[in-house]
Amino acid sequence: MKDTPRYKNPALPVQERVNDLLARMTLHEKVMQLNQRPIGEDSNPNNASTWTEFDPLLGSVLSFFGGVDARNAYQRVAMEQTRLGIPIIWGFDVIYGYKHIFPIPLAQASAFSPKLVQDIVANSAVEARNETGVDLVFAPMCEVCRDPRWGRVMESYGEDTWLVSKLTEASVRGVAQASPNMSACLKHFCGYSASMGGRDYHATEIPDLAMRETYLPPFEAGVKAGAKVIMSSFNTLNGIPAVRHRGLLNDILRGEWHFPGFVVADCLAVAQLQDQGFTADAEKQATAALSAGNDMDMVSLVYLALEKAVQEGRIQEALLDTAVAHVLTVKFELGLFEHPYIEEPLPFPAPDLAKLAMDSALKTAVLLENRHETLPVPPGLRKIALVGPAAADCSVYIGGWAVVAKATREYTTTLRDEISTYFPGADIAYSRGCGFLAEDGDDEAIAAAVQAAAKSEVIFAALGERGNMSGEYRSRANLGLPGRQLKLLEALRKTGKPLVVLLFTGRPLCLQEVADNCDALLLLWENGFRGAAAAWELVTGKATPSGKLPMSFPRVVGQIPCHYNQRPSCRSLKENFQAEYIDLEEGPQYPFGHGLSYTAFGYDDLHIAKTGDGFRAEVTVTNTGKRPGQETVIWYLGDPEADIVQPQWKVIGAGQVALAPGEKQTVGLDILPDRDLAYPDATGRRQLEPGRFILNASRRCQAEFWL
Ligand code: GLC
Repeated sequence: MKDTPRYKNPALPVQERVNDLLARMTLHEKVMQLNQRPIGEDSNPNNASTWTEFDPLLGSVLSFFGGVDARNAYQRVAMEQTRLGIPIIWGFDVIYGYKHIFPIPLAQASAFSPKLVQDIVANSAVEARNETGVDLVFAPMCEVCRDPRWGRVMESYGEDTWLVSKLTEASVRGVAQASPNMSACLKHFCGYSASMGGRDYHATEIPDLAMRETYLPPFEAGVKAGAKVIMSSFNTLNGIPAVRHRGLLNDILRGEWHFPGFVVADCLAVAQLQDQGFTADAEKQATAALSAGNDMDMVSLVYLALEKAVQEGRIQEALLDTAVAHVLTVKFELGLFEHPYIEEPLPFPAPDLAKLAMDSALKTAVLLENRHETLPVPPGLRKIALVGPAAADCSVYIGGWAVVAKATREYTTTLRDEISTYFPGADIAYSRGCGFLAEDGDDEAIAAAVQAAAKSEVIFAALGERGNMSGEYRSRANLGLPGRQLKLLEALRKTGKPLVVLLFTGRPLCLQEVADNCDALLLLWENGFRGAAAAWELVTGKATPSGKLPMSFPRVVGQIPCHYNQRPSCRSLKENFQAEYIDLEEGPQYPFGHGLSYTAFGYDDLHIAKTGDGFRAEVTVTNTGKRPGQETVIWYLGDPEADIVQPQWKVIGAGQVALAPGEKQTVGLDILPDRDLAYPDATGRRQLEPGRFILNASRRCQAEFWL
């Protein structure tokens, strides 16, 4: 190995290899390492990329879906036909699947199961690597989301910081489980989900305290879990664009969290500094972003201006060296120099993807209403009506991010495809009734659907949002059922038949009128390529719903923000004072943590005992119903006497228990004061105050304890 350059020696420490390679690089080679570009068509239609030819000096390629052989061929050019042979890192938006699409992240969060998330992410990452050679997964989106108008809530894990943090860790572990040569990319850093008015790409104004309490913790959890890449976000945060926010990218990320990896800007974000009122000058854009700590420029080409700026002495080359060192560190740590090619397909962690997809869809469904025990429907039904625009539409299962959806449709079935499997021999009356848009459908179509349904023993109304009504730049100001669907439902209601709504959506919706016009309401979200079959498994009682809402459903849009963990009002303890609206019932229609079952659960004997390093809480959960079921116990902490007023409730843990009818089990929680009872101030310093605390189990029972 004597004449092998030190950076090519895997036995040497990464830092030594980085330093050796950096010393050998030309200015141009450094600038190119800080660029990420697509080759040919960008699989993400939201990215208006302008430069699509291949340059082997690129630091990274994104959104390539040309297959492993083509990817390896490009990589071979980079490895063998360039002076230093630096591997490209290949990024892709594998948000909830690649060709096999699983439930959206907001649905996944309904299962309150880190294992479910890790399984989905690991198998999705393996498929993406096997199909087109992905090294870098542009996920998880670990933003806490509190505004359902924002289309991207569908790719989040919801409104609670603890749950988002736990599932972020699981997602990072999932990518690492897929391959040691792959990394997750935490996005979008930071505060993008608070985009003004729930519109996309707008400014955010978030107090430092809220950043510390709510928005930063999931990213810190992801960094600690080993994510090697972070994507800076589109938004300005309190007037400073995130892509050039030194406080975020340097002081917190490097100074506090000691993040060793690299930061890539979101697509075109560096060039968008012009739109945001910073500057139209490319060199100023590049210099500001780079010096704030944004290492890599996605798609915009602005970083190419750095070369001239260094040559003409306007910026120090050392600035580039820092960023290039971050990029090279990740490439060395992922083993890309030793394994630049996808040599052979990885084994899937799950032996059967369809079973994983089915199990995921079953566990993520949330039963919102079930009057007169309409569900599960009785066996032996002979006349069934299936109505609504979601009954035969593929998009409602794959959602807005299935960027390779054309391949996914090969696998995805619809309710209409699957119904006869679950109701063999029954007479199925199918009619669409209306579309997803107001102009799609008319009174005649509704009348025809009602007429067809009138002869049935039960009506299934498949309603909701079309898959492209949520996701990036898919914000909505109205959160009712789109189009004429409510008219259709009201007309069906008049038949007097048992009426079950199967609801597909990428976000919380305002469902008061829907709930008033049905007997049962089963939320399926956008639940993946086996989502239709899962819906029928649940409806027929072969499986029992167990999901709990990870995000509150407002009664009306005017109620937003209606997330559960808000600080108390100044009259929250006083009777007769209206701290809510005079024209609306109190609280969201379906709060965080809501979810019914086909059985029922009793909670009792909650007790909290002091332990050596904190407390141990336990509660006994009993299945008091007639069917087996799984219950998620959600532990909420109340801190009613704090220097910095705390949210009335905040989740500090969750546990699951599967119980047969009549069975009871104890569910416990270990409480560590520094982790669970301390809280941050606006600088991030954590404060632990002695005093009274309240622990609440699933809003069913609670007990006080003192530190
Ligand atoms: C998009 C999204 C981001 C995605 C990136 C690459 O605009 O904001 O989430 O990872 O570009 O496609």
